[in-house]
Amino acid sequence: MKILVTGAAGYIGSHTALELLRAGHEVAGFDNLCNSSEKAVERVRELSGKPLRFEKIDLLDRPGLDRLFKEGFDAVLHFAGLKAVGESVEKPELYRRNNIEGSKNLLAAMAAAGCRRLVFSSSCTVYGEVKKNPVDESHPRAAVNPYGETKLAVEDMCLALSQTDPRWRTALLRYFNPVGAHESGRIGEDPKGVPNNLMPFVMQTAVGRRPKVRVWGKDYPTPDGTGVRDYIHVVDLALGHLAALERLDALKGAEAINLGAGRGYSVLEVIAAASKAVGRPIPYEICPRRAGDAAAIWADPTLAKVKLGWSASRDLAAMCGDHWRWQKDNPQGFA
Ligand code: UD1
Repeated sequence: MKILVTGAAGYIGSHTALELLRAGHEVAGFDNLCNSSEKAVERVRELSGKPLRFEKIDLLDRPGLDRLFKEGFDAVLHFAGLKAVGESVEKPELYRRNNIEGSKNLLAAMAAAGCRRLVFSSSCTVYGEVKKNPVDESHPRAAVNPYGETKLAVEDMCLALSQTDPRWRTALLRYFNPVGAHESGRIGEDPKGVPNNLMPFVMQTAVGRRPKVRVWGKDYPTPDGTGVRDYIHVVDLALGHLAALERLDALKGAEAINLGAGRGYSVLEVIAAASKAVGRPIPYEICPRRAGDAAAIWADPTLAKVKLGWSASRDLAAMCGDHWRWQKDNPQGFA
């Protein structure tokens, strides 16, 4: 297939572009590079040994999108978007404009070009405050911050589109906590500034960029008192996109599907596994809870198995080992 990847220079976009190329698909990508580096695209070319056409375009640039769609694509994998929860609280308009208006623009350009097959990066954040674990796709949705609102809004746009035009086929993939890196150590997550997410913070501590990990709360109702999340290796996640693409035609309109490993690990379990991968203890201190954090959330990944024939196979040791290789070989990321 001929696939267009939005956000192709980003963390999940670059790993997915690589798996698409390896599977024999033809890939073109774009990114506005506001939070990513074109070096990731160069390294995907190097790892795959295949051409990957790339342009710097913004989702809001409709003439740019129309020009791109003249090439004719069989499907779009839509990763482009802002993703920092804290920043979304400070700048909700920026998030609405970029994530919601940008996606609206993309969908309009797709419809105009007659391309109606889409895989969208949604998030488990759409479940809001989780009532019961594991979480399946029928759990009620709620936004607890502007970032979450944008994911809900784009899911709704896709659902509405497929209701008015049954030719649309859309997978709304709800990711749990993506971590890890390609096993080569050549591409990986490169957050700008101080990382908010656990694994990049842990690995930047291991490489000496941060003094110690701050564990946000040890008084949660979990086995060791720290937060529990469903961590998923980014290569498993990329392969989930490939599976969704290959099974898109079998979906009914727009369907939401969880991409998670189906088991939870605590913050202390992650630090212990990371310390093992690194070969020395990673320093940490227990701090008060972070506002807005849930105690525990993990996925029921059954639907992905049934609908996509996909399940995660890389364990926490592989997530930490691969993330560490990337961080160790690229202490300053792509800089
Ligand atoms: C966060 C977002 C979520 C988003 C996801 C991916 C919030 C409330 N949620 O998920 O919407 O989809 O990132 O970008 O921000 N932790 C520490 N110390 C740290 C960092 C994290 O103890 O320095 C703990 C957290 O309290 C949590 C776990 O590690 O228990 C995972 O945190 P994080 O990686 O930030 O992901 P989420 O909060 O699950």
